[in-house]
Amino acid sequence: MFSDADAAALYDLLNPWDPDRHPEDHFYYPLVMGAASVLDIGCGTGAMLHLARARGHRGRLVGLDPDRVALERARRRADVEWVEGTAADAPKDANFDLATMTGHAFQFLVTDNDVRASLVAIRAALRPGGRFAFETRHPQVKAWQEWRRSNPDDVVELVDATGRAFRVWHDVDSVLDDVVTFHGTTAEPDGTVLRVDSASLRFLDVATLNTFLADAAFTIEAQYGDWDGGPITADSREIITIARRS
Ligand SMILES: C[S@@+](CC[C@H](N)C(=O)[O-])C[C@H]1O[C@@H](n2cnc3c(N)ncnc32)[C@H](O)[C@@H]1O
Repeated sequence: MFSDADAAALYDLLNPWDPDRHPEDHFYYPLVMGAASVLDIGCGTGAMLHLARARGHRGRLVGLDPDRVALERARRRADVEWVEGTAADAPKDANFDLATMTGHAFQFLVTDNDVRASLVAIRAALRPGGRFAFETRHPQVKAWQEWRRSNPDDVVELVDATGRAFRVWHDVDSVLDDVVTFHGTTAEPDGTVLRVDSASLRFLDVATLNTFLADAAFTIEAQYGDWDGGPITADSREIITIARRS
C-alpha cells in the first residue's frame, strides 16, 4: 500500500534540498562546492550530492547510508559513489577533504559507543586537516515538544507528483535522558494510516558533544547556533559544528 520506496520518495518531497530556499542547505552549499572531495554520511536519498554534481562539482563525491532503499533512490545519479553502511563504516584512509552529516543525521548516533566509533571512523576517512561539518538540535529548546499531532505546525499536508495527497505528523513515545523516541505517521488526508516509522534521536548538549569531538582528536574550528553563523546562545535551536581533523 505504501512501500519503503514510496516513503523515500515522500522524504524528498518533504525535504527538497535547495540552497536558494533553505538556510541550512545554503550553509552547506559553499562547503561542499569548495571541497575537493566529499563524504556525505547519512546521505539518505542523496539530494545534496546530486545537486553538487548537477551544479558542476568535479571532485570525488561519496554518499554513505545504512538505508538500502534510500540509497536506491540516490543511485538514480550514477556519477556519484553510493555506499551502504553506517558512519562507523566510513572508509579508512580515504583522504576526504570534507565529511558532512546533514538533516540532523548525527542525532541517529544514540549510544556513547555509536558516537565514539562513528567519530573515530569519520576522522580516519578525512585527510589531515580535513573538516567534518554537521548539526545537532540543541536540547535546550526541546524541539520534540513540537512533535505532536495536536500541533498544527507539525501536521504537513502534501500532494505528490501523481496527485496523491498525504498527511504527515509525529508523536513522541518517550524521553529518556537525552534520547527521544518518536514515530512519524503517514496517512491519507482523511486520517487513514498508511505507515508508521519509529526512530530514536539523541540530543547532546554542547559540552558533551565537544568532549566527544576532543576525545576523537577533532579540533572545533567553528560552532554556530543558527544558519546565519550566529553564536550559540540561550535561545539557539541548533549546534552547528565545523570540526577539523587535528
Ligand atoms: C533525516 S535523514 C537525513 C538525510 C540527508 N542527510 C538529508 O539531509 O536530508 C537521516 C539519515 O541518517 C541515516 N542514518 C541512520 N543511522 C545512521 C548511522 N549510524 N550512520 C549513518 N547514517 C545513519 C538514515 O538512514 C537517514 O538516511
